[in-house]
Amino acid sequence: MTLSRLLNIDDLRNLARQRLPGFAFDYLDGGAEAEQTLLHNRSIFSQWRFQPAALVDTSQCSAAAKLLGVPATAPVAVAPTGFNGMLWPDADILLARAARDAGVPFTLSTMASRSLEDVANEAKGVRLWFQLYVLKDRGIAKDLLKRALSVNCDTLIVTTDCAHYGKREREQRHFRAPLKLSLPAIIDVACHPRWLQRVVWPTRGLPGFGNLAPYLPTGEQGRGAQFIAKQLDPSLNWSALENMRQAWPGKLVIKGILNRADVQRAAAIGVDAVVLSNHGGRQLDSSISPMEILASVHKEFAGRIQILIDSGFRRGTDIIKALALGADGVLIGRPLLYGVAAAGQNGAQHALQILLNELRLGLAQLGAPDIASLRAGDFLRSHSQEFAPLSPP
Ligand SMILES: Cc1cc2nc3c(=O)[nH]c(=O)nc-3n(C[C@H](O)[C@H](O)[C@H](O)COP(=O)(O)O)c2cc1C
Repeated sequence: MTLSRLLNIDDLRNLARQRLPGFAFDYLDGGAEAEQTLLHNRSIFSQWRFQPAALVDTSQCSAAAKLLGVPATAPVAVAPTGFNGMLWPDADILLARAARDAGVPFTLSTMASRSLEDVANEAKGVRLWFQLYVLKDRGIAKDLLKRALSVNCDTLIVTTDCAHYGKREREQRHFRAPLKLSLPAIIDVACHPRWLQRVVWPTRGLPGFGNLAPYLPTGEQGRGAQFIAKQLDPSLNWSALENMRQAWPGKLVIKGILNRADVQRAAAIGVDAVVLSNHGGRQLDSSISPMEILASVHKEFAGRIQILIDSGFRRGTDIIKALALGADGVLIGRPLLYGVAAAGQNGAQHALQILLNELRLGLAQLGAPDIASLRAGDFLRSHSQEFAPLSPP
């Protein structure tokens, strides 16, 4: 299979579906409960349509922009995702290298398979961001921040919407008990010998949690998932974020925000950016898409706090819509995971290139040769406002 024949993110998703056993694919692809949020995250983009400008010189087109104060090839970063090593060996490192080569930041999750130190070492030169889950044992967060600083992470993303693990039914159906695959799922795994050989065989099991390994109780190194489940902290509140602001000297970002009152609070604490996000439809089902509040958050907070967004971005034109509505940057989650699960580092690179090429092509076709002209222009129409159904005669 030559990757050049995979034209879009959906093509990579289809290949990832073939190459992964069902339980791993559904971990990556699935959402919470009836997956209404997951579907809504995609369908919402058709609410806006472009109105391009004619006869603009777009012979020099660039998507370059600053992201949290630092220049990037495009206002795009790789979203934090946990347990990537189940998709492809060392996926965290491969994704970080793909981000570095494309000139965009990479965010390493607390739940990553490989550690901060490993990724910094193996993907030298990457702009590394770290995503923190604040666990019950606050000493862990303190130590993780120290480690993140020591490997030159300039940005900390604190995720707020995962204090209770989402009810992901599509994923759960593969298990007969926690962490115990059902018989059909085991048979399905056996039908994926190349995945077994790649992912399971070298370590005689699924990958662990690189960042959390030092904190797992002795003798429980193989039981990281249970440890983490017990450590999720539902009592987490805004004072923890205030403490974080005191403790973290770099850029501080809060992720999982879906209403303006929370943006207000984050700004008051001195947070540098919010990520408007519903966690890709993996947490609370039936929640709004962050795209629905983007314009109003931009109107109220632009200039005071940077606005990042994720959840459902699969096309360059999706990214353009968010930027035109006021986002300072877009985090890309599943598309890169489809890429890495389909073909390792080449697949991750291919996914990122597809999105960045589509982004540049979209800007050119719109008549906005760069991000500044996109932001200054008036290129977007809301379908509901502009094309309201005609009233009956
Ligand atoms: C497989 C998977 C694992 C994830 N793990 C994390 C995580 O460890 N920390 C986090 O803050 N968000 C996590 N997320 C959420 C992403 O950061 C991001 O919000 C989401 O993927 C955006 O939705 P999209 O991928 O559909 O665009 C995960 C998402 C996926 C798909």
